[in-house]
Amino acid sequence: MNKVTNNINRRNFLGLTIAGSSAVFLSARVNVRDVLAQTVRVRPNIADLLPNSPQLNALKAGVEAMKKLPDTDFRNWTRQAKIHDDFCPHGNWFFLPWHRAYLYYFEQICRQASGSPDFMLPYWDWTTSPRLPASFWGEDNPLMNTTRQNTPNSEARAENVGQNVINSILAIKDFYTFGSGFATEQRPPQPRRTGQLEGTPHNYIHGSFIRGNMGSFMSPLDPIFWLHHANIDRLWGRWIRQNPGRMPNDPVWLDFEVGTFFDLQGSQVKKKVSALLDNYDLGYRYPDQPEKAFKIGKLTNLKENAPLGLFVKSNINGIARTDESLTVDVPETPETLDKAIEKIAATDLKSNASLPTLRLTVELDKPGNSQTSVRVFINAPDTESELSVDSPSYVGTINFFEMSHNHSDMTGDSSTMNTTADERTFLLDATKTIQKLSKSKLFGSLQDAKVSIVPVLTGDVSDATPAQINLNGFQFEIIK
Ligand code: C2O
Repeated sequence: MNKVTNNINRRNFLGLTIAGSSAVFLSARVNVRDVLAQTVRVRPNIADLLPNSPQLNALKAGVEAMKKLPDTDFRNWTRQAKIHDDFCPHGNWFFLPWHRAYLYYFEQICRQASGSPDFMLPYWDWTTSPRLPASFWGEDNPLMNTTRQNTPNSEARAENVGQNVINSILAIKDFYTFGSGFATEQRPPQPRRTGQLEGTPHNYIHGSFIRGNMGSFMSPLDPIFWLHHANIDRLWGRWIRQNPGRMPNDPVWLDFEVGTFFDLQGSQVKKKVSALLDNYDLGYRYPDQPEKAFKIGKLTNLKENAPLGLFVKSNINGIARTDESLTVDVPETPETLDKAIEKIAATDLKSNASLPTLRLTVELDKPGNSQTSVRVFINAPDTESELSVDSPSYVGTINFFEMSHNHSDMTGDSSTMNTTADERTFLLDATKTIQKLSKSKLFGSLQDAKVSIVPVLTGDVSDATPAQINLNGFQFEIIK
């Protein structure tokens, strides 16, 4: 498309609100659809966009135009954020497909608003670029958000977004442990079961690193939200390629319609999860994906992979404080599991043998300070100074998001509401930890094992209420 067309599209977009002329609006839409139908287009890395590049200018123009629309228009910036506040699922398996669909519709609206038919939503890869992109700072910049608590020089911590943690998250074989747990509703009343992609880098960037709007369910008010989620979406795409056939085939998931979004005509729409599994079907890919669509592989019956058994320890009610870990013994474990654990312990880290996943589920109360990360260990050494992420005992780091929001769709008696709102359940893959411990001769059997948690403050702002975290329980499961 040439410049002239771009300008016309842009004028149509802004003109519509004033004139309300849907005829003009529809003709603009056809252009976009034609382009979409032809190719799978690439969402760029924001780090690759030069300051005055057409793609970055298009993003700015799109965001600016959406912010200028009256709040009666469905494309208005705040109304788009409200979709998230009203509907976003967190802590369950609809997290990934819902946010993929949300971005899909947003990208079309922002493209039209930008007047650039070539517009593609960029992604922010915080692993390789741990500072919030420079193009998102500065006065009179539509990409700026003044509620952010980080600075242009703040760097996201490697513990939560670094290459090592991302590699180990992508290597998780169990879908729930990777992408959050089973649910039958988008926002079920039961506690969240947050997987590691959501619970480690995703929550950290929202609730610990950026905060302000990003720390709340109105987070899409900050333009960086969209690029943050494009990166989460890209990592889901990588996981699928790296773990073929590991995605669930449950009709509860495949036939579920996530929503509710606005399409370009302003109609409220939902989208089936089955139509969201492959991003090529949606007309886009990321630079790290091949040009040609790849098969996502056959889906898995996760029920057949149901936990071999579990050992649970609940009602612990122990408190861990900054630099003061809480250690709890693993209870008597069923014999049926010993073989599976022995196999894991006996398998070298570098071996290609396919192992079951040892999932460690941790139940916590959300902390008073959103900048609290919780490190989880198995058989940690007694010396506090050795409780570091480099220890063979280290399992993973948990982060929190959405500290104080009251769901607008939550009704009913407030005591139940409070209990539910304060509980946070996280799923961690402990398979490699067992292998590392065994290699260092620090693991005998799970019966003799202990679990430790320690909260750490991650902020670069010292407003700090000291980190303190309540452990309610934990659970081990073996998943085939
Ligand atoms: Cu629904 Cu990262 O937020």
